[in-house]
Amino acid sequence: MYDFGPYEKTYKEFNWDLAKEFLEYKEGDPLNIGWYCSDRICQQGKAQKIAMIWEGFDGEVRKYSFNDLRLLSNTYAHYLKGLGIKPGDRVCIFMDKIPDLYISFLGILKLGAIAQPLFSAFGEEALFTRMDDADSIAVITTRKHFRKVRRIKDQLPHLKHIIVVDDENVRLEEREKVFILDKAERVEDFNIYPTNPESPSVLHYTSGTTGKPKGALHVHASIFAQSLSSKWVLDLKDEDIYWCTADPGWVTGTSYGIIGPWSLGITQVVYCGGFGSEKWYKLMEKFRVSVWYTAPTAIRMLMKDGTDLVKQHDLSALRYMCSVGEPLNPEAVHWGIEAFDMPFYDTYWQTETGAIVITNFPGMKVKPGSMGRAFPGITAVVLDLKSYEVIREPNKVGLIALKPGWPSMMREYWNNPTVYQSKFINGWYITGDRSSIDSEGYFWFVGRDDDVINTAGHLVGPFEIESALIEHEAVAEAAAVGKPDPVNMEVVKAFVALKPGFEGSSDLELSIMNFIRKKLSPLAMPQEIEFVDKLPKTRSGKIMRRLLRAMEWGEEIGDTSTLEDD
Ligand code: WT7
Repeated sequence: MYDFGPYEKTYKEFNWDLAKEFLEYKEGDPLNIGWYCSDRICQQGKAQKIAMIWEGFDGEVRKYSFNDLRLLSNTYAHYLKGLGIKPGDRVCIFMDKIPDLYISFLGILKLGAIAQPLFSAFGEEALFTRMDDADSIAVITTRKHFRKVRRIKDQLPHLKHIIVVDDENVRLEEREKVFILDKAERVEDFNIYPTNPESPSVLHYTSGTTGKPKGALHVHASIFAQSLSSKWVLDLKDEDIYWCTADPGWVTGTSYGIIGPWSLGITQVVYCGGFGSEKWYKLMEKFRVSVWYTAPTAIRMLMKDGTDLVKQHDLSALRYMCSVGEPLNPEAVHWGIEAFDMPFYDTYWQTETGAIVITNFPGMKVKPGSMGRAFPGITAVVLDLKSYEVIREPNKVGLIALKPGWPSMMREYWNNPTVYQSKFINGWYITGDRSSIDSEGYFWFVGRDDDVINTAGHLVGPFEIESALIEHEAVAEAAAVGKPDPVNMEVVKAFVALKPGFEGSSDLELSIMNFIRKKLSPLAMPQEIEFVDKLPKTRSGKIMRRLLRAMEWGEEIGDTSTLEDD
């Protein structure tokens, strides 16, 4: 049997056909997520069932059946194969949430290549860092975004193909090509590459405190966990219309915006129109969304527009709502009950874990402010901050740690065994978050244990921002920290020491902000810049970000000597 690790017991106890089927998998049996999410659903008699209801920013609606998904992902796989792309090659997807994103994702997997999603708002520097580290061989993109790639391609010798999928008329330069799915001949039979449970599937980059972003590499077996948690936590049933608001540039958008729901043959809504309270409720009313997976920042923005707006729409199909990515404040849970007659169910996980690990699930008592309990099969504890011993008394804050081995856990950080190893201590995987656990096993999130900034549910690494800041002509030294924000939880604030000859002004502040927005992304752009003469440093010369952060949050700093040896 395939080694399901801690999931074996869960599958055995969970009376569900797919779990039984999974248990028959043997190490090395062919398993391909692309096949599972399309061909297999067709074989189950659901070929004509709608897989994706897509709505664009201008209101255009398109519907795709599972058979369309099957044929169109075959078509992508066939095209990429024709370019010479091989199993194991990294193929980036860099576009807004258009149908090609979802279809090419499955196509890349069918070919046995590794799908590397990149958030469409990334600027050149953010792109370069990730494509360079992964030696990506191709990028599938659109008219709106391909110029960013064009500007860095000379520094990316491994990048052989820049594929524009929505415009036949772009004037192509070297290495660039056009592929229009609607015009391509649909491929009925594609010889799906026989990946097995341990074959690499998806590479998502995520930020840490130090160094460049790390590529968390997942394998096809991740589907075992994503499927099960979609069933169990998101409560997806055959007749549901499911809407995950996340962008596949981030892991929620792939694990629960592609793989989980489609592995179960669920119809999902994909909305490419951005945020707007009224727009969102209209969408949910129009498509009769029944299960909704979103994030606290979005919920807080909806809250600002009030309960009346919700009540003006017929959301009678809605039966279940979940949240992920950042702390879900108790007010948001209470507001959910007031506005929608049901709470938001908080879920906790990470890019690295690939699937939900701590969560609320249907039928469970929700304690507003708590993330819920360990997912069945997952052993989650908190460890003492210094000794890394398991804390057994309730309500004491420690590091959230998980017993490794579930199928969707990352298998490595791309090219970075040292940092990967550093995540494991005494046989525990250390998440980098702090929490306490109450006497009923509920986790109460406290904060991150590192300097990573969580803005609107997206992680941004201070090092990446600081490295970009010092490339600005006026900047000598810089530190980036999160400062509190009522909607986004945190936003980036930069402390900047200027080079001789430069003086702080609002113009310079704007210039630096724009510089970062273009280079990295709007998320990484500092919302405030404070010009300082010099930055606080440890004796060994490291910038004391934690001191700056504590000041922003109005926290007790205490004895600064403890910050010295961090
Ligand atoms: C980090 C992981 C997991 C999908 C999206 C983010 C924070 C995640 C919660 C939650 C409080 C949360 C943690 C975690 N986080 N869920 N329910 N309550 N914080 O994936 O980008 O890898 O971020 O997001 O700090 O470590 P990611």
